[in-house]
Formats: sequence, structure tokens, C-alpha cells
Amino acid sequence: MGLKGLMILVFFACVGVTLVESRVRHYKFDIVTKNYTRLCHSKPIVTVNGRFPGPTLYAREGDNVLVRVVNHVKYNVSIHWHGIRQLRTGWADGPAFVTQCPIQPGQSYLYNFTITGQRGTLFYHAHILWLRATAHGAIVILPKLGVPYPFPKPHKEAVVILAEWWKSDVEAVINEALKSGLAPNVSDSHTINGHPGPLSNCPGKGGFNLKVECGKTYMLRIINAALNEELFFKVAGHNLTVVEVDATYVKPFQTNTIVVAPGQTTNVLVKANKNIGKYLVAASPFMDAPIAVDNNTATATINYNNTLEESNSISTTFTSIPPKNATPVANTFLDSLRALNSENYPARVPLKIDHHLLFTVGLGVNPCPSCKQGNGSRVVASINNVTFVMPKIALLQAHYFNISGVYTDDFPKNPPHVYNFTGSGPKNLQTNNGTKVYRLTYNATVQLVLQDTGIISPENHPIHLHGFNFFAVGRGLGNYNPNKDPKKFNLVDPVERNTIGVPSGGWIAIRFRADNPGVWFMHCHLEVHTTWGLKMAFLVDNGKGPNESILPPPKDLPKC
Ligand code: C2O
Repeated sequence: MGLKGLMILVFFACVGVTLVESRVRHYKFDIVTKNYTRLCHSKPIVTVNGRFPGPTLYAREGDNVLVRVVNHVKYNVSIHWHGIRQLRTGWADGPAFVTQCPIQPGQSYLYNFTITGQRGTLFYHAHILWLRATAHGAIVILPKLGVPYPFPKPHKEAVVILAEWWKSDVEAVINEALKSGLAPNVSDSHTINGHPGPLSNCPGKGGFNLKVECGKTYMLRIINAALNEELFFKVAGHNLTVVEVDATYVKPFQTNTIVVAPGQTTNVLVKANKNIGKYLVAASPFMDAPIAVDNNTATATINYNNTLEESNSISTTFTSIPPKNATPVANTFLDSLRALNSENYPARVPLKIDHHLLFTVGLGVNPCPSCKQGNGSRVVASINNVTFVMPKIALLQAHYFNISGVYTDDFPKNPPHVYNFTGSGPKNLQTNNGTKVYRLTYNATVQLVLQDTGIISPENHPIHLHGFNFFAVGRGLGNYNPNKDPKKFNLVDPVERNTIGVPSGGWIAIRFRADNPGVWFMHCHLEVHTTWGLKMAFLVDNGKGPNESILPPPKDLPKC
């Protein structure tokens, strides 16, 4: 679908034919409400084109992508192309009130961006309220025409989207929680490509079923589109060869379990080298803190070709799932991730650092007189004790058009109070509200240490940065030690990604170069924490060179 406006420039050279393609990919996303039945229960959900998950957006590296998003639902909407760098095109990034005002009911907006220097699996999702629970889909970026993968070409590829399903309306779930001051309900099931799967207590029809041929290799493009839960993913009896995460190639390695946080993607190769039969695919929660999760395992199947679908006589091979608090399983996987760092795909880790930042990420407790269930207080979240307050007009507009009073650029470089971050916590759990950005000059280099806090409870926070990939140079437990820990950093082939888990009761160090002018959101990709205020933005000024400024806003940019 969506492949109009193909423009082919053919150059005839004297020795042969060189094909140079510059493509424009047109898509139309109608945001519509549709009834879906899951867990024997039907409810209307907000979808892209009536589908859950939404249609896959295909493009090649270098393509110009044009997506017309038309809002037919009662909510304001915006769509984020999660992981697409949006070089100079922040207007198309999508987070509501950060880079654009939302698309109001009955209105539309044309997202226009070019995919530069990226290939792999990403995804798009609504970036307002909790609509991304059901309004999301895969983005598959193929390499440029004629450029192979840096691993043997799989026989076939399949998109595998992990998500969550609530029996209740998700907007009602979060609104109720905000009223009470307490945490929202967890989901009622995980899903694989929209279905809880054959082992759920009300299986229903449909679901992901990959048919494989003996001896062939398949690539799974696994996406965690869940709102609030990190997931383990396994295929019974089969090893997975990890080749890419967050649309960056990694040194291939084998594992039987991957862990994928909301906002992360992982491409794996699976070789169909087992006996004919059915093999279970399982997605189950990873949570190594005393916090409630949805304990339901979503399932799907891999079927060897000669297996008759209807035949129940064919044996199914099951798989054990890791316990939900299996930190060692998660760590083994995470420690194996290394950038490919080849000649064609070098890891350009910044070595000279202009900004050394230390940000605490965690929860807090603020007064809330109306919160009866919370006894007059409510749970909040913050970065460096700032609970981010969404502005009424988008930060990028305020920046571009010099509108004052929308934000301040005094986001703290360091935590305002120093305490034993991963210990029992400070006496005062209160945070400050603010709409603050951290300002960077064009091309500045940043080292950011994200430090979990033990306030209320330590917890793994998958932090997502818009507009950039970063390198994960170090990770540890306890409090970050600026004298000792940097000595152990990997500055050669650290994994490059756009979303990374800050370990429960620990820290992670990332590095990036601010080579993209604009305003770039950074937040926990657990939606409940984003709602509670675990978010901030970097403002990157224009550079002086010819291609170092934000492009002008499109004419149809939504108004607030
Ligand atoms: Cu995938 Cu700001 O989000």
C-alpha cells in the first residue's frame, strides 16, 4: 500500500546501468474508533485505519515519507515516528505540546520527513493522552536499494508487535488514577500482534501464527508498543540471533530470551531447524521491583509447513517463561548488546564531552487535597526533582517564533539535593513543577547519567530521547560514582539506541551529539510515569552552517 509518487532517475553509465532512486512514500492514516473484541469482551478503541495494531509503514533509507493524518475521533491526536531522527524537521516529530499542537477532531496534518542514515525497525504511535495503547504500528525501513543487510538475508520477515489490552477504556483508567492520586490499574492481557493468543482464558480467533519451512531463516521485527511494561520474549525450542536494536545494527549474538522495554525494538533471526510441529511464542512481563504488573503471558505460534493448522494431533512445544523478576536474564541479554561498529556502520561515540549531566529519575509525592484515596497526596514523577508541566502551546513553536513565557531554559544539570539516591530517600518527597528545557548549542556533545531513585520504590525506567540516537557507554547498580565509574565505560562499541532502561536502583550513562536543531522530548516510556511528569526537553539551537537550522514550519501545522 501507499506507494505512489515513485520517482526514478536512471543514469546510463558507459559500463552499465546505475539505478538511483529517490522515492516519496505517501500514506494516509485515518484515526478512527472501532469495536474490537478481546478476552470475550467488546469495546471501542482508537485505531489507525481501523486496525489494531495499525498498518506497517514501509520505506527505504533516504526516502521522503508523507503521512496525512486525519482525526475522526473525539480526542485531540498527534502521531510520533518513534526513533526517526527528524533531522531539522522537528515539526514532524509528533509529541503533543512539545513539537506541535495536537490535531483537533475533524482536522488533519501532513507529516513530512526524510529518513536519513537509518534502517531497521521502528514504530509509530499516538503521542497524546494514553491513545498509543491502541493507535500504533510498525515502521520498517529497508536499506537503500542494492545495499544488503550485514547478515545473511532471511527467507522471510515478520513484524511482531507486543502490546497491552485493557477491558476498560484506557482514558478512563488513567483519569480515574489521576483523581485518586494512586497508580492506575494494570492491563488485563499482553498481546502479540493484537491478540492475547491461544493460551489466554478467552483465546478468540486470529493472532500471530508464523508458518515456516524447515531449514529456512526468518527475521522477526519485535516491537514493544505496550504502555507500561517491559517484556521478555521467547520462542520455544529455538535460539534467537539478535542483529539489530532500535534501527541500529549490533554484533550478532545468540540468546533464548530477549528483553524489550516499551519504546524499544529488536530484530532477531530464527532458524527453522527443529522437528516438524508447532512451537509457542511467549511474551511475559519483566519487573524487578515490588510493583504490580499484568502477569498474563501473551502467546503466538510458529508452525512448520507440513503442520496442518486444524490438526490438533500435532504436538505443541511449550516454553518456560522467566520469572517476572529475572534480573539476571535481562542483564545477560543487555550485556551482550554491542554496536556492530563495522567499516560501513561505525560507532561514532563522542569522546570529548561538552556537557556532563546527572539526572535523577524517579517518583515523588505531592499534596493533592482532592485525592481522597491517596489521603490528600498523589504520586508524581520527576527528573532532577522537576515534575514537567505540559505547556499550552508547543515548545518548538514558542522557540521558533520567540514566544516568551512558555518555558524556561534553566533545567538543572545536577540533582538539586544530593542524598543517597538509591537508599531510603530524602525526608521530603515533594517535587517542583516546571516547564524547563536544557539548552545546547548545535553540535555540542553530551554525557548524561540517568540515576534511578529509591523514592517509593526503585524501578527500571526505559528512557526515550527524541531526535537522536545515543550510545549506552556504562551501567551500574547503586549511586553513580563520577571518579570510578567512567574508567569502565565502553567507548569503542557501545550499543546505539533511542530508548534505554535505567536499571532498578542503578544508573546508566549515555552519550550523544546535539547535531539536530529543535526541541527534543526525553521521557520515561512507561506511560504512567510520563503522565506523572517524568519528562523534560532538550533545546538545541541552530548552527551557523547551511544545513544546521530548523526548516520553516509547514503551512498546515496545527494551532492550539
Ligand atoms: Cu515513543 Cu515520546 O515516545
